[in-house]
Amino acid sequence: MAYPSMDKIYQKSSSAEYEMEVEKDLAGHTTQGAHGVNYHHAAAGDQGSTFFMPCKSLLGEGALVGAVSQVKALGQKKALIVTDAVLVKVGAAKALTEVLDDAGIGYVIYDGCLPNPTVAQVDAGVKMLKDNNCDFVVSFGGGSPHDCAKAISMLCANGGSIKDYEGVDKSTKPMLPLVAVNTTAGTGAEMTRFCIITDEVRHVKMALVDWRLTPTLAVNDPKLMVGMPKGLTAATGMDALTHAIEAYVSTASNPITDASALHAIKLIATYLPQAVENGKNMKARDMMASAEFLAGMAFNSASLGYVHAMAHQLGGFYNAAHGVCNAVLLPVVQKYNSQYVPELFIDIAHAMGFTEVGQDKAKAVEVVLKSIKDLNKRLGIPQNIKELGAKVEDFEKLADNAMKDACGLTNPHQPTREEVIELFRLAYEQQY
Ligand SMILES: NC(=O)c1ccc[n+]([C@@H]2O[C@H](COP(=O)([O-])OP(=O)(O)OC[C@H]3O[C@@H](n4cnc5c(N)ncnc54)[C@H](O)[C@@H]3O)[C@@H](O)[C@H]2O)c1
Ligand SMILES: [Fe+2]
Repeated sequence: MAYPSMDKIYQKSSSAEYEMEVEKDLAGHTTQGAHGVNYHHAAAGDQGSTFFMPCKSLLGEGALVGAVSQVKALGQKKALIVTDAVLVKVGAAKALTEVLDDAGIGYVIYDGCLPNPTVAQVDAGVKMLKDNNCDFVVSFGGGSPHDCAKAISMLCANGGSIKDYEGVDKSTKPMLPLVAVNTTAGTGAEMTRFCIITDEVRHVKMALVDWRLTPTLAVNDPKLMVGMPKGLTAATGMDALTHAIEAYVSTASNPITDASALHAIKLIATYLPQAVENGKNMKARDMMASAEFLAGMAFNSASLGYVHAMAHQLGGFYNAAHGVCNAVLLPVVQKYNSQYVPELFIDIAHAMGFTEVGQDKAKAVEVVLKSIKDLNKRLGIPQNIKELGAKVEDFEKLADNAMKDACGLTNPHQPTREEVIELFRLAYEQQY
């Protein structure tokens, strides 16, 4: 049966037209219900949208213990645990190995994954998995071990080099089962279809976006996050805030991702400062674990924007921490975006607690940008990318690479090359 013509059902509208057609909720507030496929987004497609997440996720205190019966039910024989040497050295990985030992599940440990994992680290993991006849993978740590584990699981099933899979949906076979046990809050990598691997030859962070990279089981137990030092809590929390904001203003957002993004913003605005100031505050850790998962639910389907497209280049060039790069770039890129979608900053401001801005777009933009900078300052995030080691003479190369990053495609407005260079310059000179 042929569908009736789409324009008979609804009309595509631009951001400007939307302003005239704005809907109000019962309290008279602007609703963002009109923010979704073919509403608000001028460039939306005509094939609907897809929502991605793992089939099963375990959240909250005790989730690690709860995961064991799920792991057993997978019916696999031997795990390759992918983690980093620090987590093994400080004894954190014991939390995992003890529950596996109790359950009689065999494993070998690959702890060669470093922050911003590389092609060589992935290849070493593939070799170890094959040499030890493992048939599934358990990642333990933050975004780096999860991404490294995704790449290992995918290559073991699909063959070739991880470089062959840069881009969208390049794999053809399901990866080996992957159980992702998260220890930061965070990247969302334990539940996303994204995988970021550094090509150490080109100094580029490759973005692989592939639904087959979605972990089989995501585990977020806040007890594993209590040990995070202040700096790591701050950086990873700002990464989660960036995911939520970029997903909210993304051209691929829809009411489902909006709900996830806005609640993540609300939780992070309240609980990130508390988690940084007192790492033993279990409520703050629990709420941040949920917030980073919600932010993951948002960007996994709505994708990201130019903060990530540019942050990946700083990470690839200077090996800077991902969350810190995002935190520093966030005010600069959102100021640029606010010229094009100021109306979207109203709900962000409200989610941050600034309900007094009412429906004033200009005020909403102002308080959102100011509160991101204030938060960075309070959390001890560096002021600018100069402090991260960035050099002015690299800006052209960084901009060229940022423009090739898949994450930038859903930014609310596509910047020119000159504008991207200017954004790097603004981030270089920024003071809070
Ligand atoms: N795949 C995705 O969806 C996605 C999204 C965003 C970022 N990323 C990637 O994730 C990586 C960053 O991950 P991250 O920020 O979670 O950090 P990370 O995994 O790189 O870890 C950073 C450091 O923190 C330590 N650490 C981790 N958990 C700890 C804990 N509970 N207590 C004490 N120390 C702990 C690690 O040992 C490591 O030294 C980057 O490579 C980034 O590009 C991926
Ligand atoms: Fe991120």
